[in-house]
Amino acid sequence: MNILLTGGTGYIGSHTAVVLSQAGHEVVLLDNFCNSSPSVLERLEKILGKALPCIEADVRETDVVEKVLREYKIDAVIHFAGLKAVSESVANPVLYYANNVQGSISLLQAMQEVDVKTLVFSSSATVYGEPQYLPYDEDHPTKPMNPYGQSKLQVEEILRDLAASDSKWRITSLRYFNPVGAHESGLIGEEPNGIPNNLMPYVVKVASGELPHLNIFGDDYETLDGTGERDYIHVMDLAEGHMAALHFQNVNAGSNVVNLGTGKSSGVLEIVKAFENITGKVIPLQFAPRRAGDLPIYFAQTGLAKEQLHWVAKRNLIEMCESSWKFQELQGHVKGESEN
Ligand SMILES: NC(=O)c1ccc[n+]([C@@H]2O[C@H](COP(=O)([O-])OP(=O)(O)OC[C@H]3O[C@@H](n4cnc5c(N)ncnc54)[C@H](O)[C@@H]3O)[C@@H](O)[C@H]2O)c1
Repeated sequence: MNILLTGGTGYIGSHTAVVLSQAGHEVVLLDNFCNSSPSVLERLEKILGKALPCIEADVRETDVVEKVLREYKIDAVIHFAGLKAVSESVANPVLYYANNVQGSISLLQAMQEVDVKTLVFSSSATVYGEPQYLPYDEDHPTKPMNPYGQSKLQVEEILRDLAASDSKWRITSLRYFNPVGAHESGLIGEEPNGIPNNLMPYVVKVASGELPHLNIFGDDYETLDGTGERDYIHVMDLAEGHMAALHFQNVNAGSNVVNLGTGKSSGVLEIVKAFENITGKVIPLQFAPRRAGDLPIYFAQTGLAKEQLHWVAKRNLIEMCESSWKFQELQGHVKGESEN
């Protein structure tokens, strides 16, 4: 298949590009590089032994997207392009709705124009909000607690209406849990611009000496180690989940929503311990009060992904930590090694 990945040079997009390309698909990337670097393209070329076409554009440039869909005879689109920082979305909701919702509408307009009607959408477990029960299954009520989550839910709703309007659409919204880790080569991984918002890149930067300590917000939750627990999923498992969704769509029309998680949750201290064991480094910790809006614990019901997509997450916490660290080391960020 010829597959367009919007946001394809970002964290999850680049790993999915590897999985799809190695499975024999023709992959085309489109990105405006607002949260990624063009250097990802060289690193992808190293992994794949060939260059992937990449168009520098904003997904809101409908005409450009339309042209790309035609030129590369695209069969399916995976829509990763979006902004993802919860706190930024609270501070600047218009930015998030403009990028995530307007961006998706622009993409759908282009796809409709060219009659490309197969789409996988990057949604998030954030759409569920406060758990009424756990694990979250796909029927759990949705009540996002911030504009970021709201933007994802709005797009899911647009996609549901679209599929109901035209039976040719094949759409899967994948609700990701907490992606971590990196490709086994260490060449690509999570590279946030500035101070990381997510736990794993933050831990990595503390371990490498770039940041002084890890803040832990709340150690008095009713969880095993008192810290917040999340369902961390290896980014390569997640990438494989996208290919599974495309295969499912090949034989199933309509719109679908599926969780991608492991079904297990881990606390911050568990991650820190695993990291310290792997790197042999001590991660200085600083405990701080709970943050408003943080949930104590959540994790995925994974049955639907298994049943429909024939997909389960295979990689464990050690592999998540090891690959994150390898990526960090290869990027040459590890301080102090040469001085010691
Ligand atoms: N990483 C997570 O924790 C997580 C969890 C749930 C859902 N998601 C969703 O998955 C998708 C990919 O996430 P990621 O972690 O790879 O993030 P990322 O920031 O690494 O990748 C997103 C990519 O999209 C590009 N982009 C953003 N807006 C664009 C636009 N308007 N036009 C063109 N390109 C644009 C960015 O430059 C970046 O390369 C996002 O939609 C995100 O909301 C991520």
